[in-house]
Amino acid sequence: MGQVECRAGEDFTIEQDWAAYSEAEHAVWRHLFERQQRLLVGRACREYREGLAGLGVAASGIPDFRRLNDILERATGWRIVAVPGLVPDAVFFGHLANRRFPSTCFIRRPDQLDYLEEPDIFHDIVGHVPLLMNPVFADYMQAYGVGGLKAQSLGHLERLARLYWYTVEFGLIATAEGLRIYGSGILSSAGESVYCLDDPRPQRLGFDLRRIMRTRYRIDRFQETYFVIASFEQLFEATRPDFTPIYREVAALPDLEPGQVLDSDRQFPPPAALGQKNGPQQSSAQV
Ligand code: PHE
Ligand code: CO
Repeated sequence: MGQVECRAGEDFTIEQDWAAYSEAEHAVWRHLFERQQRLLVGRACREYREGLAGLGVAASGIPDFRRLNDILERATGWRIVAVPGLVPDAVFFGHLANRRFPSTCFIRRPDQLDYLEEPDIFHDIVGHVPLLMNPVFADYMQAYGVGGLKAQSLGHLERLARLYWYTVEFGLIATAEGLRIYGSGILSSAGESVYCLDDPRPQRLGFDLRRIMRTRYRIDRFQETYFVIASFEQLFEATRPDFTPIYREVAALPDLEPGQVLDSDRQFPPPAALGQKNGPQQSSAQV
């Protein structure tokens, strides 16, 4: 699928050309999908698992966007559009603002199963699309698109991008059964889906909009800090206010390093403090 870029239109959308995937490409999908299915039991949040089940994104092979769109459009009015790769920010925000999710259509090579720095179809579809089946998250993503266009015109895109990074891509959610994953960058990564919950090294901090806007991030390694929301409603409500004065407020404060912890941070206990793997936090209601 190397020449797709020449066919990209003004909104950068292309045809997925589902029939063109090779058996080897479907096999890569199956491998990744089955591995994540195993790892995400008891790790992915309920809303994600419900979305995935509702879509019927199968282990059988790379899905056809037309089939996914029939289901997704009926559920929340979102649609997947195919793009060749990362698109200009304004184009990306414009799609989100109109409830269109830009997804890549190429799949990583067999030697890239564990790590890829750019998004591919597995990350975009298995990581992002299931939560677009959830009405609250679906509205959050659209609001983010509208907010992106505004942030760009105000010159505060970097701060808004941090919000996307620490929620949509790498967010955790607190549930009665313990912490769960909703961030797509984690959900599509075998290593990080275990690391973010089970490893004592990273910080897990309570969601705080201004704090996140100040926090730098690294795109080339596991995160040093994850932010934990209480619910998607909390996330949506916290991001509903006009960011214009908040951007100005935050711009006056110093940036924070990815691993930095402040006295004001609400820290979730590291997994070691929760006892054994089957300790009280995890023993019940694992689904
Ligand atoms: N309320 C934000 C603004 O005024 C828009 C936004 C909503 C941004 C949700 C991100 C997520 O810019
Ligand atoms: Co992504």
